[in-house]
Amino acid sequence: MIKYDFKTFANIDGVNNYKEYFSKIKEKFDNGTGGEIFTDVYKCTSKSVLEKIKKVSKYIRNNCDVFLVIGVGGSYHGSKAVIDMFTNHYKKDIEIIYTGYSMNSSNLSELLDYIKDKNLIVNVISKSGNTLEVNFAFSKVLELMKSKYDSKELRKRIIITTNKKTGKLLSIAKKNNYMKFYIPDVSGRYSCLTPAGLLPICVAGINVDMLISGYIEAKSDIDKCILYATIRHLLYKKGKKIEAFTVYDEKLLSFNDWLKQLFAETQGKKKGGILPISVFNTRDMHSLGQYFTEGEEIVFSTVINIVNNKDIKIKDKSLNKINNIALLSIAKSYNMPSIIINMDKLNEKNIGSLLYFFMVSAAIGGYLMGVNPYNQLGVNSYKRIMKENLNGKYKR
Ligand code: PA5
Repeated sequence: MIKYDFKTFANIDGVNNYKEYFSKIKEKFDNGTGGEIFTDVYKCTSKSVLEKIKKVSKYIRNNCDVFLVIGVGGSYHGSKAVIDMFTNHYKKDIEIIYTGYSMNSSNLSELLDYIKDKNLIVNVISKSGNTLEVNFAFSKVLELMKSKYDSKELRKRIIITTNKKTGKLLSIAKKNNYMKFYIPDVSGRYSCLTPAGLLPICVAGINVDMLISGYIEAKSDIDKCILYATIRHLLYKKGKKIEAFTVYDEKLLSFNDWLKQLFAETQGKKKGGILPISVFNTRDMHSLGQYFTEGEEIVFSTVINIVNNKDIKIKDKSLNKINNIALLSIAKSYNMPSIIINMDKLNEKNIGSLLYFFMVSAAIGGYLMGVNPYNQLGVNSYKRIMKENLNGKYKR
């Protein structure tokens, strides 16, 4: 169960001014035309694809020491967010390593050294199939894999997740007959519940059926998404230009990264939009906390909290309770509005619901701002300029 508290620490006047807009959006969702605003991404993965994902995941779990996931942006953040929540940080029953999300040479060379003697299976994920970070990392990993395995073995160990039509990755997959999964035509940041996210999530042993059922359940509460989008919009208009996504559990830190991508790429357009940042408390009370209590009044926070966590006692006191008390104390001491989202516990159902809640809220927020929520021309222009420069346009 999830409780959304938009009032205690937010105290928003003016939401009523948006009533007309609110009912227009709601009407669209009620009469089934909400697809204009948000396409149901889970529907993009058919039952048979889901079954294939489960089967392949089982194979992966039984046949490697390291499952390497190569991807960036939407082909990385969604699955990483969910996997980090549900796996023990210190003890792993399968080691899942991510790469291909930067051009950092030292990290890649350390990784290649670490995995050279491991039993490997690789999932390369890229919707376009042409993303530089991903293709660079994959080319080095492939070189290593080719030195370890023959081509028959490679076909059992390389899985390519990309679009159905074009791109470098698709050609490699076809030419070598590697196993393939297809990413439907949705923006990367909305693709967590497509094969781009579901395969790694399933390999980690996470219950994808419950994740999807939580997502579906949240659809009946579209009002919450519209309200949250409206409140954010209103806060933005009142000069709150920064949204601090705040968590009190490290397991949610990668979820914050997913939120940053979702909201920045959806709404950071036409020289406007709320800047999303990630905060981990109470750690960041000892750094950013100073700004949040006495700095410029341009920030609001959205707190995502797990109320009942695995507990530990300090003397006779519950550390989990203390952490919850810290959340309330901080919300009170902050000089900013805070929206609090309390999950009773961390489970797949709640997270499926949160994925829906945030994706739909982001998309509605884009419409409120008058921008297209589904493009990312800024990111595309980085990709283009980088390729031009690599081809020699840039001279020092
Ligand atoms: O949201 C998006 O579409 C982008 O951020 C992409 O996910 C990101 O650029 C990675 O692209 P690709 O999956 O094509 O490698």
